Amino acid sequence: MPKKLFKSLPDMSKARNRVDMPTLRRDEIVVPQEVEAFAKGRKFFIKTFGCQANVRDEEIMAGYLELAGFSRTQDHGQADLAIINTCAVRENAEEKVYGEIGKFKANHLRDKRFTLAVCGCMMQEEGKAKELIARYPYINIIFGTHNVPEILDLLAEHIRSKKDLVDILSFPGDIVENLPSTRLDDYKAFVNITYGCDKFCTYCIVPYTRGRERSRAVSDILDECRKLVEEGYQEITLLGQNVNSYGKDFGDGTSFATILEEVAKLGIPRLRFMTSHPWDFSEDMLQVIAKYPNIAKCIHLPVQSGNDEVLRRMGRRYSCKDYLDLVDKIRRIIPDCALTTDIIVGFPDETLEQFEDTLTLCEEVQYDGAFTFIYSPRNGTPAAKMADNVTDQEKHERFDRLVKVIEQGVSAHAKEMVGKTYRVLVDGPSKKDAGMLSGYTESGKLVHFPGPAQLKGHMADVRILESHTFSLIGELVEDPWITLARDLRASLLEEPLAKEYFACKRQVEEDPGLIELRKKIQDAQRDMVRFAEAGNDVGYAKAKKAYKDAQDAYQNHPLVQNLLSAGGELRNELMTLMEALS
Ligand code: SAH
Ligand code: SF4
Ligand code: F3S
Repeated sequence: MPKKLFKSLPDMSKARNRVDMPTLRRDEIVVPQEVEAFAKGRKFFIKTFGCQANVRDEEIMAGYLELAGFSRTQDHGQADLAIINTCAVRENAEEKVYGEIGKFKANHLRDKRFTLAVCGCMMQEEGKAKELIARYPYINIIFGTHNVPEILDLLAEHIRSKKDLVDILSFPGDIVENLPSTRLDDYKAFVNITYGCDKFCTYCIVPYTRGRERSRAVSDILDECRKLVEEGYQEITLLGQNVNSYGKDFGDGTSFATILEEVAKLGIPRLRFMTSHPWDFSEDMLQVIAKYPNIAKCIHLPVQSGNDEVLRRMGRRYSCKDYLDLVDKIRRIIPDCALTTDIIVGFPDETLEQFEDTLTLCEEVQYDGAFTFIYSPRNGTPAAKMADNVTDQEKHERFDRLVKVIEQGVSAHAKEMVGKTYRVLVDGPSKKDAGMLSGYTESGKLVHFPGPAQLKGHMADVRILESHTFSLIGELVEDPWITLARDLRASLLEEPLAKEYFACKRQVEEDPGLIELRKKIQDAQRDMVRFAEAGNDVGYAKAKKAYKDAQDAYQNHPLVQNLLSAGGELRNELMTLMEALS
């Protein structure tokens, strides 16, 4: 087994007393020779757990590795370098990491030079790195959230020294610019605006794993966003553990409202942000959100609990009244604003009454969506030392009750959307059926609708036909070009060929057999979505067959064929007309 070299290890106790100001680095990227030689013809694999902060770190690591000459693989077996980017926020996030590490044992047996690196928030926990090494001796490099920009140097040192390395910086954190990055998406992008967190909610590990709160310069954020707009990105999400605090460290009046407005002005079609702590949510922010149509009217506002005593013990710095007043204010200034939240169930010694206060608050707010979690003690946080008399069973029962209340609110909002038209950013064909597209509305609702795959990465107007709790079914609404064509059609209606075409069209529309077939197609489409959502593969396959049969019968019907031929003649005439005009 290669020697271990411990360069630095985390110290969580220091986190609370951090006073140093962050250093701003503008790195020049140098690829060490050893890494360049190693990267030739080799592939890297990255698996990320946790939140968007980790996703962004993955994009940056991928940027460094591609610059060094590695190519990417999604296949564990193909990897020559594997990186596991971990999350520490809850116990179950950590358990998934152990499973992932185990998958790479075979790579080592196949190739002695295979390199396994583990990084991310879990590594910033005291004792974790040593525990991992003892359990999985084939891990080669361990690093933390602060040394992501050092990834190539760590790799070079490992190659050069043939030693396994542990280098976890434990400090307030720098701000590093000029980072390379290979984004995971071509039309939706995450942009960090702040790093770290100074709130120290008593249950939360994040302030210890990600360092003190620090803001990127306005000009650096704007440069990054401007580039994304130029590249055709459709959506930017501004990221921070608490975006509301943006700019406070500058001490010059710069605020989150400032940066939000400046980015909105760049003209990105959709702008989102997360997360907002309810404690320092300013009215200025609401005015900016209300003012710019491209800022999504959707706010993620984690409440965590609906009981004042629990909130106090969580260190959340607001009361339920403060929170509900803020909700009222949001809805007054931005009437259709969607609200989503995070809630923790079973905080130490939470009484049944205290839990039921959370239910009451959720019934009152009627969230558009919520992430619900069972409290998970995190070593080194104050809450982990609190006495807890609530049993696991009680926690699970409460969790199930909460989910039901949340679902009722989510469904109510979804029902209100039926019959209305919403702008959807199309993610592409839905996973289960290439004929259906899916995408998200401004309020974060998932919509499925039939449409061409070419719409991927574009905005489309979709009318909602049906609502389910977690998704909606809709149909595409005409775009402005079709409206223009319809106006032109009105003036062409007097043409004999046009008359014939529309006579055929009327027959197709009024024929009882075809009406029946159209209904069959629609029903089958709905069944497909319903079965797909329920994970019923047999039902889905049956519905798909019914859909195909009805489609074929429809296409082959003589009246439809007549319509196609009349349409062809009309098109030829139109082409002649257009050529004459050009
Ligand atoms: N900075 C964000 C998100 C932090 S982590 C915020 O403040 O909202 C995301 C969510 O995980 C938190 O909102 C909280 O609901 C949940 N969470 C954090 N620590 C947890 C713990 N120890 N147990 C269970 N849930 C936790
Ligand atoms: Fe954790 Fe609280 Fe900071 Fe969010 S605001 S990251 S919950 S400490
Ligand atoms: Fe997890 Fe770290 Fe994010 S603990 S939630 S990956 S900040």
